[in-house]
Amino acid sequence: VKVAVIVVAAGSGTRLGAGVPKAFVQLAGRSILEHSLHSVAGMSSQPHVVVVAPEELLDDARAVLERVIGAGDAVAGGVTRQASVAAGLALVGDADIVLVHDAARALTPAALFDRVVDTVAATGSGAIPGLPVSDTIKRTAEGGAIIATVDRAELSAVQTPQGFPAAPLRAAYEAAARDVTDDAQLMADAGHPVAVVEGDPLAFKITTAWDLRRAEELLRPASV
Ligand code: CTP
Ligand code: MG
Repeated sequence: VKVAVIVVAAGSGTRLGAGVPKAFVQLAGRSILEHSLHSVAGMSSQPHVVVVAPEELLDDARAVLERVIGAGDAVAGGVTRQASVAAGLALVGDADIVLVHDAARALTPAALFDRVVDTVAATGSGAIPGLPVSDTIKRTAEGGAIIATVDRAELSAVQTPQGFPAAPLRAAYEAAARDVTDDAQLMADAGHPVAVVEGDPLAFKITTAWDLRRAEELLRPASV
């Protein structure tokens, strides 16, 4: 099977607030994007890699792609994550399976990519990594009044890479009728089954300065 991985790195990183787009922020001596591409390079299959980056950083994205993967495409992203994924999808060529990955999940192990590919290949449908939720979750009204406690047992905190058969993913993007924050929602909207597979704590998303600090700690030589 031919696998393509779209690494979306075109966000601005407002919540991190580092002054440069998040994927280009330095983490233990490398950019966040470079860390993510190292994970992709460790996959057991050799996928076609598409990096979606901010227009003004496309040359940088191409350079790191060349250095870490040796081949692949870089394309400018859009205003939303969804638009950025759509830009990447245009370049996946004849891939059978497409994985969509947030560059911001810089420490994601290569084995998680492999698990997602293997599940999609075995089932023919979408697979996304998820972890049980450890906090008790409340549904609240504006102002904070508690409406209900959500049963934690039926919740999953989902991550990326999210993997799908290429054709239905393309169709789901063409038919997209609303803004979503992950690709599995568009697949579900289009009526396609998607299953959650076991995620990995290392696939956490670097969103805030706190997350960046946690990633730095995890990458310190003595700690891993
Ligand atoms: N992303 C993208 N294009 C966008 C928005 C997001 O490619 N227009 C990517 C980000 O680069 C990131 C992933 O989608 O790898 C997840 O998004 P998020 O963590 O929200 O990153 P940002 O949008 O950059 O951060 P913020 O929301 O804090 O601005
Ligand atoms: Mg965002």
